[in-house]
Amino acid sequence: MSQPTIESILQEKRVFSPSSEFSQAAHIKSLQEYQQVYDRAKADPEKFWEELAASELHWFQKWDKVLDWQPPFAQWFVGGKINISYNCLDRHLTTWRRNKAALIWEGEPGDSRTLTYAQLHREVCQFANVLKQLGVKKGDRVGLYMPMIPEAAIAMLACARIGAPHTVIFGGFSAEALKDRLVDAEAKLVVTADGGWRKDKIVPLKEQVDKALANNGAPTVENVLVVKRTAQEITMEPGRDHWWHDLQAGVSGDCPAEPMDSEDMLFILYTSGTTGKPKGVVHTTAGYNLYTHMTLKWAFDLKDTDVYWCTADVGWITGHSYIVYGPLSNGATTLMYEGAPRPSNPGCLWDVVEKYGVNIFYTAPTAIRALIKMGEEHPNARDLSSLRILGTVGEPINPEAWIWYHRIIGGERCPIVDTWWQTETGGFMITPLPGATPTKPGSATFPFPGIIADIVDLEGNPVEDNQGGYLVVKHPWPGMMRTVYGNPERFRRTYWEHIPPKDGKYLYFAGDGARKDEDGYFWVMGRVDDVINVSGHRLGTMEVESALVSHPAVAEAAVVGKPDEVKGEDVFAFVTLEGSIDASEELEKELKKHVVGEIGAIARPGEIRFTDALPKTRSGKIMRRLLRNLAAGEEVAGDTSTLEDRSVLDKLRGGA
Ligand code: WT7
Repeated sequence: MSQPTIESILQEKRVFSPSSEFSQAAHIKSLQEYQQVYDRAKADPEKFWEELAASELHWFQKWDKVLDWQPPFAQWFVGGKINISYNCLDRHLTTWRRNKAALIWEGEPGDSRTLTYAQLHREVCQFANVLKQLGVKKGDRVGLYMPMIPEAAIAMLACARIGAPHTVIFGGFSAEALKDRLVDAEAKLVVTADGGWRKDKIVPLKEQVDKALANNGAPTVENVLVVKRTAQEITMEPGRDHWWHDLQAGVSGDCPAEPMDSEDMLFILYTSGTTGKPKGVVHTTAGYNLYTHMTLKWAFDLKDTDVYWCTADVGWITGHSYIVYGPLSNGATTLMYEGAPRPSNPGCLWDVVEKYGVNIFYTAPTAIRALIKMGEEHPNARDLSSLRILGTVGEPINPEAWIWYHRIIGGERCPIVDTWWQTETGGFMITPLPGATPTKPGSATFPFPGIIADIVDLEGNPVEDNQGGYLVVKHPWPGMMRTVYGNPERFRRTYWEHIPPKDGKYLYFAGDGARKDEDGYFWVMGRVDDVINVSGHRLGTMEVESALVSHPAVAEAAVVGKPDEVKGEDVFAFVTLEGSIDASEELEKELKKHVVGEIGAIARPGEIRFTDALPKTRSGKIMRRLLRNLAAGEEVAGDTSTLEDRSVLDKLRGGA
């Protein structure tokens, strides 16, 4: 079973509390202390964030106003001057952390590298100077299409240092998806590598960049910088393409951090929504810096002695907030891993834990479920005693996986921090604080201090305990997205008007269904919109449908999520074909390949079912609920009286 069902959650009564030694040493030591901090923050959120901004971050210039809220547009620390690269690097250099490991990189196959804060600072400064030499200026967007190598973090921090917003595009995206994002962001430069390791294969990243830029595909891109990683043959276009190591050689390691306005854009990160076109989520500088810093510090009880490891890819928000910015702003040691568990090396994660004495480990339920399948003999054969906290993110964790994680990986001593958040929220929103919060398997527990979350109905009215509803946030927070890049109306519509504002009160609509239990614990059930969650990766069903119908053989497509034991959900597509074309196995294969080419391997449909017609209402709306039932092999539930042609349903069933 992959997703927790309402029944399994309602039966889930186990509560796990941290040991008293753990609590005593934690930043937040008890539920009472959490409650006090939470209440204080709720009574005056601005004051709460202002005090932390002053004590936790370096500012070139103090702000005039903590929050300017013109719903749904927020500005935090207005008038302040700050640089997140300075907060992640420079300020640690005048302390003992100067020679502390900032970034430990464990690469494939067997490569590794450790950069101290002083070394990382130097490389970031050099690369910032390289960008400047190529004419990148404050405000210019830079696309990063990188493997999991230190240069990815170096490039992000270098962009932040000179005020050039980055847009990281996950290395698993296709050339087509890469092109769309570079065009939307109007990127001036792209940083990539000759190739990257993904499991036992090399992904030809540079080749994809060449395809994306061919025929003037992304006309704003002037230069491409290429890290030599896998050393296979690639073509370098003279004048446009440059090797990273050539340009980095002999460049000054001194590049003062640009004092940025608090609200200057830090990055754009594309994520899937309910339309075919991904949204460019915009995050800005000061609020994001403060929010990722505080959430990581408290929710992972970060200590200076910790080796902290998040297994995400830097192409996702988790990599931005919790591999790069949050940990480095705290002066922590962050571990970056290029590999992934696979049949040829099922114990590789635990080798890394043992090798570096990892203390905090953060991964996704889909990974945990895959690890369960690989067998507990692999973790059991390694020394995992250094671990003290385990984290999970990306989708609801089923209690079985939670318990396995707790027992087999955590040796029953490590608190599990189930963090609910989104690309849009910048950082954790609902999460246990490990020294304070008794946890229940499958619940992300309580909102972080300063976050006012609730479960409401579609009119915005709070629902009763244990009643399902929509998860909303009632007050702006520093890490929130500021807009959809180039489309403020989409931002307003998608997040702030889905539930109509009442008496000028705006609610942030997360797109998740959830409930609160009688103890106030939040239980997130999953998306309530046309977004599916495949192995913790977010995909819009419309995005996959657009990819399918762009194939000449396809007339219409409808995509739903099908429950999957390991991935959580898998892509299931119903397809009708153009008049004269017949369904065949070859065509199914070709369409799957086509989707991979349009979006990337993460969107490859697990199954395509060809059909003569799709079930529609009389007004022509595809009845997805019904298709979800069919995909799951369930009885079609609920009312089907609005179905235009009932025989469609029987035919679709027949195909099962
Ligand atoms: C969606 C956001 C935030 C980084 C990873 C995904 C789901 C995320 C949890 C959790 C239940 C979760 C939600 C959310 N989700 N964390 N702990 N419990 N669901 O970021 O791609 O922006 O996706 O992931 O459905 O809306 P994302």
